[in-house]
This record gives sequence, C-alpha cells and structure tokens, in this order.
Amino acid sequence: MKDLFDKFRKDKGPLGNYADVAEGYFVFPEFEGQISNRMKFQGQEMITWSINNYLGLANHPEVKKADAASAAKWGMAYPMGARAMSGQTPKHEQLENELAAFVKKEKAYLLNFGYQGNVSIIDSLVNKNDVIVYDSDSHASIIDGCRLHQGKRFTFQHNDVASLEKMLERATVVANKTGGGILVITEGVFGMRGEQGKIKEIVALKDKFNFRLLVDDAHGFGTLGKTGAGAGEEQGVQDDIDIYFATFAKSMAGIGAFVAGEKDLIKFLKYNMRSQVFAKSLPMPMVEGALVRLDLLRRSPELKDKLWKVATSLQKGLRDAGFDLGLTDTVITPVYLKGSVPEAMVMVKDLRDKYKVFTSIVIYPVIPKGLILLRLIPTAVHTQEDIDITVKAFSAIKEKLESGVYKRIGDEYIKRMRA
Ligand SMILES: Cc1ncc(COP(=O)(O)O)c(C=O)c1O
Repeated sequence: MKDLFDKFRKDKGPLGNYADVAEGYFVFPEFEGQISNRMKFQGQEMITWSINNYLGLANHPEVKKADAASAAKWGMAYPMGARAMSGQTPKHEQLENELAAFVKKEKAYLLNFGYQGNVSIIDSLVNKNDVIVYDSDSHASIIDGCRLHQGKRFTFQHNDVASLEKMLERATVVANKTGGGILVITEGVFGMRGEQGKIKEIVALKDKFNFRLLVDDAHGFGTLGKTGAGAGEEQGVQDDIDIYFATFAKSMAGIGAFVAGEKDLIKFLKYNMRSQVFAKSLPMPMVEGALVRLDLLRRSPELKDKLWKVATSLQKGLRDAGFDLGLTDTVITPVYLKGSVPEAMVMVKDLRDKYKVFTSIVIYPVIPKGLILLRLIPTAVHTQEDIDITVKAFSAIKEKLESGVYKRIGDEYIKRMRA
C-alpha cells in the first residue's frame, strides 16, 4: 500500500510541475495598491489587464463608502446562520427582488459564491434519471456540478450547435427510457476565449427537443445587453433562459452570486440547494454593497459604454498589429500565440519587467498544447494611453517570439531558476 501523499510528491500536475519557478510571479502574483488600471507588482507600476473589474466599481467612491458604512453598522458577521435558520433579512430579499427585476425574471435567490452556487444548482436540479448536456469548455464550477450527477451526462463540442443536437438526440433516448428530463448548460460568455455562448441557437432547439436551459452569465452580467442584463438580453432570448446564473465577482466587483428564474424554480432551489441550506447567509456588507453596485449598473450606463470603448480600441489596435484574437465577441481580449511553456514564461516576464504590462497567461491544459493565450481584461477605468503602450509592447514581444529569442532563453531560464 502507498502513502496517499506519494502521488503528488512525484507529479504535481501540468501547472503544479512549474510551481517552483512560477509561484509568486506567473501564479499567485501579489499586487499592491488600489484595484485600478495601474497597480504595483514587485515594486513596479504596471498597466494591469488581469482583473475582472469590468465597470471599474471596485474603487468607485459610492461603492467604497457603502461597503465601509455597512461594515461599521453591522460588522462582518450579521446575520448569523443559514437563511432558513436565522440568516434571513429584508435586505437579502430586497436584493433578490431587485436582481430578478434587473435580469427580467420572476424571482432570484442569493448564493454565497458563484462556484459553489453553480455546483449546487446543478446538483439540486437533477436526479439519476435526468440527463445533463453541457459545453465542453464549461467553467470548473459547471463541470464539478456535473461530476456530482449520478445519471447520464454528455458534453457537446464547444459552441457547436450541430454537436449539441447530436447529444440531445442521445440524451432524449436515455431520458425516454429512464423517465427523466434534460438539462442543457452553457455560458453567456466563455471567460477565457471571450466568445458568447450560442444561446439563441440553443434556444431554437427547444422546438425540436424537450430540455431546460441553464446559462452561467458570470462575464455577461453588466457587460452585455442594452440594460446590462447580460448575454440573453444581448441575443434577444433572455425569456428563454430557464435558469439564469451570475456572480458578483466580476462586473459588480464584490462577492456572492445569484440564480434567477420562474418563481416555482426559485422556491424549489431555496429549499434544496445544499450550498445555501447548509451554509451561513451572505453577510450584510456584501448584501448592502451589492444593492449599491446594482443601482450603479442601472443608473450609470456610461460605465458599460466606457468599458466597450476601451475594449473596442484595444482589440482594434491588437488586430491591426497582426494579432490573432480568435472569435471573441465580448470585451474579453484573448491574444493567441504559438509557443512552449518556457517560451511563454520568458515572454510574459519580458512584457512585465521591460514594458510594464501585466496580463494573465493561460497555457495547457486550459488551452491546447503549443498555444499560449495572453488574456487581457479591459475595464472602464483603462485609458487610451494604456492601450497604446500595450499594443506597442505586444508588437515588440511578438517580434522576439517569432525570431526565436524566447525559445533560446526559455529553457535556460527555467534551468537557472531551478538551480
Ligand atoms: C464562468 C464562471 N462561472 C462561475 C464563476 C465562479 O464565481 P465566483 O468567483 O463567484 O465563485 C466564475 C468566476 O471565476 C466564472 O468565470
């Protein structure tokens, strides 16, 4: 018999194997200062493109004032206990009512974290007779929710409606046998690649198949649609989303999440979502803070306009400079480059140390081997100067990557770091 810990001493996983050279710089970086377009990293000011502070609310004076006032009034504990036990307040219900109205659904229910919320929504909606069909590029929280499922599940190829149709045919055969139903899951916006989920096309399949649709709109909420209600509103099919999910961790620059839909669904979830039934209620400063943030979403459409202005200019600048941004049709700006992990590391180091531009770096297994994805998250507080400096810096590193400079020093760099 082996010691349980033996395996992780030998193989730390595709990312973990680089932990000794990557931690503190490429992963778990520590920023100093207020969340903004420029932050300090290792003592240097950087243009920061790696934080989902889409609307710039993290540092909005009204938001900070409301958060501080609520914490001073209530502390961080109130209310104690789960909602069903002793954690219910009129403010929690007010926030739910306002969120439901904002995303044009009958009712909403708060979740403490988006991740756990997604897991628990999926877990409570299906039993072993039901079938789940979900996008192959789904967020970990969706995948983990599906992992709890004791019945059949199928993945369809990312954003491929023909593949979904094929899987729905299989799912229908299974569900007819078991007497269960079908849950289809996609995202409003895929956070790595910036592509909107094909909600409109998926909804059209309801004419042919019997299923309910769950949309994780973590990145669409506040950034898409005429009123900011998200990807469903953008695509004109918000009414056809049966279960709408969004988090406060992106546009709202907070913590917590919510699920919205018809009143019977929300009532069922309220009594059956284990992440909420068996966990403490969201603290008051998160709730009162979210009310103020939501109000800003409603009455400050210029924040969304500014975000899009920044994103459009950044994406145009990068495309004009010859970069491949894939199929993004949102503000998320992925830059795809070809190279190995060591090349990616020295390139990102160059980008940060020399050009003072900070982006996230995404490698295998999140994207295929041999590809490097530098992901830029524009926000309403970035400036044209930030964009100009960034496009210039990207052009410089592209030239070095293509001429093999990073390849030559990449392996050497890792050797040196490990020595
Ligand atoms: C698509 C998607 N779903 C769910 C989550 C989880 O949300 P939270 O950070 O509130 O746990 C995230 C955020 O990381 C996300 O990007």
